[in-house]
Amino acid sequence: MIELKGVKKSFGKHEVLKDVSIKVEEGEVVVILGASGSGKTTFLRCINFLEKADEGTMQFGDKTIDFKTAKKNEILHVRRHSAFVFQNYGLFANKTALQNVMEGLTQVQKKSKAEAEKIAKETLDWVGLSDRYDYYPSQLSGGQQQRVGIARAIALKPEVILFDEPTSALDPELVGEVLDLIKKVAQMGITMLVVTHEMSFAQDVADKVIFMDAGVVVEEGKPDEIFVNPKEERTRQFLSRIISLEPMYNI
Ligand SMILES: Nc1ncnc2c1ncn2[C@@H]1O[C@H](COP(=O)(O)OP(=O)(O)OP(=O)(O)O)[C@@H](O)[C@H]1O
Ligand SMILES: [Mg+2]
Repeated sequence: MIELKGVKKSFGKHEVLKDVSIKVEEGEVVVILGASGSGKTTFLRCINFLEKADEGTMQFGDKTIDFKTAKKNEILHVRRHSAFVFQNYGLFANKTALQNVMEGLTQVQKKSKAEAEKIAKETLDWVGLSDRYDYYPSQLSGGQQQRVGIARAIALKPEVILFDEPTSALDPELVGEVLDLIKKVAQMGITMLVVTHEMSFAQDVADKVIFMDAGVVVEEGKPDEIFVNPKEERTRQFLSRIISLEPMYNI
């Protein structure tokens, strides 16, 4: 279980996260929606300390961490048990698909090279890239690169995977294959937080949808509650804007 309470983060005078609290049960898939600039990426980055929140606490499994005073071993604990899937894949350009997946296994989890290679190959097979071990990112399509990004995340057997708009950099015809893969990951029972504009994916896969605006959680609920019966005017406005962009978002 992951519970964040009172998370605040400013960049200079700009208060990006004003007081964000959410609770995610083990195995739950939580979709985070919100307009550009509402703080979604910053929030995900704060969870695994890619960004340091100014205030707030996080219960991560049996550990409670205060962001203000987080110690090195607490940060490492979260990093060892979480993984991030980036919008722009975040792969090392000078490493092959296999080496990209091995990196966290050897560097963060301190596995032997042989063991890391075995796990990395099995995971690349699982995401459908058994014939691409030795390809560099520049030799892979966007969809294939993101599948490497997802393989790199699940190879770590994390307790939680944080997905930040995993399909928004893809050509439309590649979005479906990556969403299908993310659904497969959800079925494995891994806890997931997913920032996405893919409404039909959210409706299919999410246990809970959170709508953020201007650094706060405006509303949260089951997909049907949020999509069919949003309580808050701001949620309604956001959804109607997204739906009017329907062709773009493949709903
Ligand atoms: N490193 C940074 N330095 C200064 N400002 C930042 C930094 N990172 C984010 N911001 C600002 O914080 C605000 C929220 O950014 P964030 O990337 O979290 O939004 P978002 O909801 O993910 O938006 P999008 O949907 O466009 O990805 C923005 O106004 C952004 O300019
Ligand atoms: Mg973002």
